[in-house]
Amino acid sequence: MAKILKDYPNVCLKPEDLDGRIDFSQIFPRPGPVHIEIGTGKATFLLNQAMAQPDVNFLGIERARKYYRYAVDRIGRWSVNNVRIIRTEAAAFLADFIPDSSVDCFHVYFPDPWPKKRHHKRRFFNSTNTEQLRRCLKTGGDIRIATDYAEYFEQIQTVLAACNSRLEKNEFTPTAGADKGEWVGTNFERKYRKDRRRIHTLAVRKL
Ligand SMILES: C[S@@+](CC[C@H](N)C(=O)[O-])C[C@H]1O[C@@H](n2cnc3c(N)ncnc32)[C@H](O)[C@@H]1O
Repeated sequence: MAKILKDYPNVCLKPEDLDGRIDFSQIFPRPGPVHIEIGTGKATFLLNQAMAQPDVNFLGIERARKYYRYAVDRIGRWSVNNVRIIRTEAAAFLADFIPDSSVDCFHVYFPDPWPKKRHHKRRFFNSTNTEQLRRCLKTGGDIRIATDYAEYFEQIQTVLAACNSRLEKNEFTPTAGADKGEWVGTNFERKYRKDRRRIHTLAVRKL
């Protein structure tokens, strides 16, 4: 039977309602650190992490309508009030709407690897987007990454190393909402663990 997905307006941040750079104090009910997840998928990470860290404000960015609707329904049903989700393309959204030095942590878990060489240009991690992440981070803020795709992981390391003087490697610790033995507890991590795929993780901190 088809699952009926409900809309929860208090969970959604609509691109058409935004006018210039976001003031996070206007979109979350309580002040607190801001964490952004890029490529939220079905929001398993967002839900568990937001419940584990109720004092942190989480913004999920998901461009696929199907996953966005699933994520909104899920967060809404659990009445988690420290999460907002926007359906948009992350690179342009960061560039246009996220203020300088306003984000405490970016979570990018299992970004699409676009394995074909001619599609590599679609990958999220490139020098432009990395510079945007760095610009948006507060000093001392983190970018946390997990992927099963070794060749993309190498590229990500290379791109981040090019920002070397302004980003330093940090320890990647399991997230608060992850289950025992997991790094981040997303759907893709769970799927790949079952397949016994190696998972690569990396964290860097803005200097
Ligand atoms: C491989 S899935 C991983 C989902 C989730 N992070 C997980 O680990 O289960 C990648 C997700 O990122 C979304 N995505 C990819 N590129 C994006 C972008 N540039 N902006 C927003 N969402 C993006 C895709 O639609 C997809 O839902």
